[in-house]
Amino acid sequence: MSHHDQDRVRIFDTTLRDGEQSPGASMTLDEKLRIAEVLEAMGVDIIEAGFAIASNGDFECVNQIAKTIKNSTVCSLARAALGDIDRAAEAIKPAKMGRIHTFIATSPLHMKVKLQMEPEAVLDAIHQSVSRARNFVEDVEWSAEDATRTDMDFLYRAVDTAIKAGATTINLPDTVGYAVPSEYGQMYRDVIENVANSDKAIFSTHCHNDLGLAVANSLAGVAGGARQIECTINGIGERAGNAAMEEVVMALRTRADVMPYSTGIKTTDISRASKLVSTVTGFSVQNNKAIVGANAFAHESGIHQDGVLKAAETYEIMTPESVGVTTKKLVLGKLSGRAAFADKMKELGYELGDNAFQDCFRRFKELADRKKTIYDEDIVALVDDEVATGANRFQVISLNTHSSSNGSAVADLTMKIDDEERKAVVYGSGPVDAVFNAIKELVEFAPHLVLFQVHAVTQGTDAQAECTVRLEEDGRTVNGQGAHEDTVTAAARAYVAAANKLMVKRQKQPLAATA
Ligand code: KIV
Ligand code: ZN
Repeated sequence: MSHHDQDRVRIFDTTLRDGEQSPGASMTLDEKLRIAEVLEAMGVDIIEAGFAIASNGDFECVNQIAKTIKNSTVCSLARAALGDIDRAAEAIKPAKMGRIHTFIATSPLHMKVKLQMEPEAVLDAIHQSVSRARNFVEDVEWSAEDATRTDMDFLYRAVDTAIKAGATTINLPDTVGYAVPSEYGQMYRDVIENVANSDKAIFSTHCHNDLGLAVANSLAGVAGGARQIECTINGIGERAGNAAMEEVVMALRTRADVMPYSTGIKTTDISRASKLVSTVTGFSVQNNKAIVGANAFAHESGIHQDGVLKAAETYEIMTPESVGVTTKKLVLGKLSGRAAFADKMKELGYELGDNAFQDCFRRFKELADRKKTIYDEDIVALVDDEVATGANRFQVISLNTHSSSNGSAVADLTMKIDDEERKAVVYGSGPVDAVFNAIKELVEFAPHLVLFQVHAVTQGTDAQAECTVRLEEDGRTVNGQGAHEDTVTAAARAYVAAANKLMVKRQKQPLAATA
């Protein structure tokens, strides 16, 4: 290994696998593909695209991502069962660079209660699963689930077995988010020192955030010898989530003086990736979230503002531009042409097909007619809304609502349903209730509304509203987004986007298969 390689920390993104395990964070194939493309463009080394054996939908996602992504390794998770490994191998087969990630629990508690296996049988399973995976690919990762609560002598034997069977990456997860940085870092030092062939593998961290220590633990792991960090955009994931990619990457970059390691991440793409993941999952980012929160670069107090104006470094340890936050207004107006709009799309990282581009351009012109100042965020919301609505069975054609402070409201809604225009006039307790009832009547379904969320895309009373609706029906969960200057119209578009996804899911996941 060259000196350079020794200092390089690989970024393994598991937004599409561990991230999707957050309750409610379901993503469609198209959405996963869009996220994977953004991750590839930002320089992620390994994309964990899913858990191929979990369902046909998961298999298809991993498989499509494997076909599309060229510059990142595409990985599928697999338990230590031969069927799991074979399915993962099949899913990643088209990948230019493919990895199988297999895992089994090694802590006394998990082995006894969950697996009901003797330690020797677990070692056997490690040997079998890693060897099986190596028959398909050279790049095999093995994880000791619940490593941080594993007996150290047994951990050495397990890691030794995995490396002997051909594992090239060894991951020691803090599955339950229990570790503190000093012990997590020490675990790597001990394993690397006590396993004879530890130099044959790259060690990886995988930290959950139950005590808010996921990022600190990941960095301690690197100090202890790990050279891969598993993380997710916005830190989404099981329970309290995983280590947030934007935080580990910016910590390594900003404090290179004390952590002399590099990643391959283009940090200016961070903001866009964060926005895409929160839009798609409906998991909004808290305002004070490090790196990507709305207030991460806002200076409220007079003393801070004064300092930052004199010299940004007084209170800013990194620039908003370094993570892709721009406060620039769009210098396009209603007279701007297609070429200027196309340039803006490119700058914001969108590559749209012809039809989608024309639709976005038309909507941009309409928006420019009604809204005084157009910001980059407006364009992002508009394009995300357009991409979400795309070619679908249901579409909102027109909507009129009337509401009053005495609690009665009516929605007069016209929708296109399978190419046929239909209209309903429906009452509700408020305008949003009325319009959701109207959609349910026209679509003829009655899903459970799990989440309804609104936020203003920019400042000002003429700001576009961006809505997220999460619907649940017979165990299937979908998220829909919509943006518009009229909040109720944005809500209607979000509900209809979710309805479209639910119809696709009904076909792909018939009830018998979900039971
Ligand atoms: O947290 C964990 O242990 C995992 C493994 C499957 C790697 O997600
Ligand atoms: Zn995990």
